[in-house]
Amino acid sequence: MTGRGETSREDAAGGPARHQPVMVDEVMAALAPASGSVIIDGTFGAGGYTRAILAAGATVIAIDRDPAAVAAGGALAAAHAPRLTLVEGRFGRLDAIARANGHDAVDGVVLDIGVSSMQIDAAERGFSFQKDGPLDMRMEQGGEDAGPSAADVVNRADARELTRIIGLLGEERHAARLARAIAARAAERPFERTLDLAGLVEATIGRRPGERIHPATRTFQALRIYVNRELDELADALVAAEIVLKERGRLIVVTFHSLEDRMVKRFFADRAKAPAGSRHRPQAQASAPTFTLAGRGMAAVGEAEAAANPRARSAKMRWGRRTAAPARAERSFAPLPALAPLSRFDGGGHAAHA
Ligand SMILES: C[S@@+](CC[C@H](N)C(=O)[O-])C[C@H]1O[C@@H](n2cnc3c(N)ncnc32)[C@H](O)[C@@H]1O
Repeated sequence: MTGRGETSREDAAGGPARHQPVMVDEVMAALAPASGSVIIDGTFGAGGYTRAILAAGATVIAIDRDPAAVAAGGALAAAHAPRLTLVEGRFGRLDAIARANGHDAVDGVVLDIGVSSMQIDAAERGFSFQKDGPLDMRMEQGGEDAGPSAADVVNRADARELTRIIGLLGEERHAARLARAIAARAAERPFERTLDLAGLVEATIGRRPGERIHPATRTFQALRIYVNRELDELADALVAAEIVLKERGRLIVVTFHSLEDRMVKRFFADRAKAPAGSRHRPQAQASAPTFTLAGRGMAAVGEAEAAANPRARSAKMRWGRRTAAPARAERSFAPLPALAPLSRFDGGGHAAHA
């Protein structure tokens, strides 16, 4: 899992470690998939959640935007047909994907936000600041909808744009200094490789004594979230889940990043209360809550799991249950940071230089 740090784990054969599902017991307890129910797993990954849901006897529509994850799940889908449908696509459209696969309404939606261990560990995907690879980070791997790569962004953005991306999405306090250094270096010689960028970040801000995480962690996280429009996807997915869930259907979201957790928290807080009436929209006409929250509606990863799987250590799970009220389908709960539109950096060739 992404978490804050990046931990190098290799399996016995020396290949990339398989993704360990995070908080799977808590997710399954909150989701409680009944035999015969229909559940959307919006982030198939290595299929950890999907396997557990299938074992409970439910039907699964599993989605992943990464063609490699979908290809690797082919055997599982064949073994569990017709109970498992595996779709390459984005969870921001999960309601449309469910409808296209014959389900207008479903009993549960689960999202495990971020990247998988397979993605981080594959150097050629460009997510890792510890393994050299092309500076790419696109989950769609350069397919039709993939958009600009991380190299396109660092090589084409100006220092002001980079400061906002790294500062807001990476919560990096040295964002301005880093952005100036990156833009100056890219003007001389464009970045093409992950370790080249990671080295520049380390040389610019150094390693604080005792710091557990690599100095490039926050910069890489920011670029990954930006390049994959991850905050927009999450906001769209929450609204899509509200639309597609049946009454009493459950929405479970696991996040690893404070911006994402804040968005999920705000969504549930917004949807669990009736919006205040106004002069123009009296209380009686305001829409009713679309979700109810059980208990605190939040759980953090347990100590034992965090110790066994360092990538899980910043995980948080939030969940809610759909009411019968009509979906609100607006994104007012998600004020996204104002950043340069990603399309500004499009132009083909991930080492291209403006
Ligand atoms: C953390 S992994 C999921 C792991 C999974 N729960 C398991 O147990 O194996 C996240 C996965 O979500 C996928 N993903 C990220 N954003 C997505 C999006 N917007 N739409 C669909 N899949 C997405 C990634 O490609 C990755 O495979």
